Amino acid sequence: MSIRILSTSPLVGPALAELGARFPELRLAPFRSPEWNAALPGAEALVVMLSEPLTEADLDAAPKLKAIGTYSVGVNHLPLKACQARGIAVVNTPGVLTDATADIALALLMAVTRRVAEGEALVRSGQWRGWAPDQLLGPALAGKVCGILGSGPIGQAFARRAWALGMAPIFWDREGHGGHVDFGAGQAALAAPRLPLPELLSRSAVLSLHCPLTDQTRGMLDRAALAQLPQGAVIINTARGGIMDENAAIDLLESGRLGGVGLDVYEGEPRLNERWLTAPRAVLLPHLGSATVETREAMARLLCDGLASALG
Ligand code: DGY
Repeated sequence: MSIRILSTSPLVGPALAELGARFPELRLAPFRSPEWNAALPGAEALVVMLSEPLTEADLDAAPKLKAIGTYSVGVNHLPLKACQARGIAVVNTPGVLTDATADIALALLMAVTRRVAEGEALVRSGQWRGWAPDQLLGPALAGKVCGILGSGPIGQAFARRAWALGMAPIFWDREGHGGHVDFGAGQAALAAPRLPLPELLSRSAVLSLHCPLTDQTRGMLDRAALAQLPQGAVIINTARGGIMDENAAIDLLESGRLGGVGLDVYEGEPRLNERWLTAPRAVLLPHLGSATVETREAMARLLCDGLASALG
């Protein structure tokens, strides 16, 4: 039987069930389970998560495929060129997770600089002996420069948050350098310079990653690049692991050269470089960027609308 839609998850909210009612048959099966493998040849549309990489061999095994929907804005886990060559539509979820992702970057920035995780652990340990003048001090943010990699909607949303904290945003993006990025989103006249990467790195007390993982950005923050950051700089990554050399970042944390790292994403996640578990001044989250109820429902709606158009 033809499985019009094969999804690895029911998603959040009613959107996928409604799509399944409109385009029967909808089949739910865990990624690469025997059921999923068996349904693949008949599938006209696949729905996968960002943690479920598809290959060109999957496309070979699914000759009826018209569309792939990913429950994410990131598409680095999909064989994009092969999809394009075969006329398979790729549907992702841009726009609706902008604020949620910028919020989690802000949460990490505050947690790292104000040492929220360490403070919470101290109180829970029963070892807290009371207020002390030099207890768990961190750097102030107001007046500091915030380097932002990526000037798309999420980078701009994070810039607005950094600006609200009194920081001065600066951008690097794939367009090169020169000119300004308008990040006020029509609400206010806010602009920040677009700089070459070395200049941005050398000026950034905070560096926040908001660019996609592509051939251009993979490994971009290597050991040499990270060494250009000022003493005590803080790195926040809510974009993708693989952009930054994690071992180099851990070395710089351990030597005291970096002031902190906040991560929501990891190279090879959910597998973790074990050195993170003992790295000082590191705050680690399990890829929660888009994890609000409203956002996940909106992502499901956007994804299903896109698949409905692709299925015709
Ligand atoms: C995405 O959707 O690609 C983001 O990584 C969510 O955090």
